[in-house]
Amino acid sequence: MMKDFLELAAERYSCRKFSDRPVENEKIQKIIKAASLAPTAKNGQPVFIVTVKSEEMRKKMKEASPCTFDAPVIFVMCGDVKNGWHDPYTGRSRAEMDVSIATTHMMLEAADLGLGSTWVCMMDLYKAHTILDLPEHIFPYCMLPVGYPAPDACPSERHASRKPLSELAKEV
Ligand SMILES: Cc1cc2nc3c(=O)[nH]c(=O)nc-3n(C[C@H](O)[C@H](O)[C@H](O)COP(=O)(O)O)c2cc1C
Repeated sequence: MMKDFLELAAERYSCRKFSDRPVENEKIQKIIKAASLAPTAKNGQPVFIVTVKSEEMRKKMKEASPCTFDAPVIFVMCGDVKNGWHDPYTGRSRAEMDVSIATTHMMLEAADLGLGSTWVCMMDLYKAHTILDLPEHIFPYCMLPVGYPAPDACPSERHASRKPLSELAKEV
């Protein structure tokens, strides 16, 4: 049966412990497809994804972040800071917004596929840029380690802690 969106959003939690079970290629492609369906500013599509799968590269990524959680797949979420939309007020690339939306789509698609993930910002972006041998205009912003949750994986206490809606929003 199709899961209600709010049920999926509530069940998803930051998974920081993964099983060794490899993630099927079909699922990896579905997660990338979810990113491609995300909207981007003026349809500039600056999002670029590096799928880190090899043991060697996953090990190297540990030099850039303490939060890879030994996941079997790490999506490093990058933005093209040259070709995406630039804010006319500041002249700056706003690729970070587009990358965030794509990452959110991927995180939720992963959950829908029965996979765990954690959005990770704790990463030395310059080190990751070098490790992944990216061109200068493709800049990493965050990553999404993904895999099947370990049998004893569970949500942290923070998962259940949310502001009441009355503090989150107001109506005027
Ligand atoms: C933008 C962003 C950055 C995050 N960075 C990290 C991180 O670097 N390391 C980590 O373990 N969790 C990270 N998280 C996960 C949050 O700590 C987590 O989402 C929050 O505590 C709520 O818990 P939940 O995801 O289980 O609901 C990040 C989440 C977001 C949205």
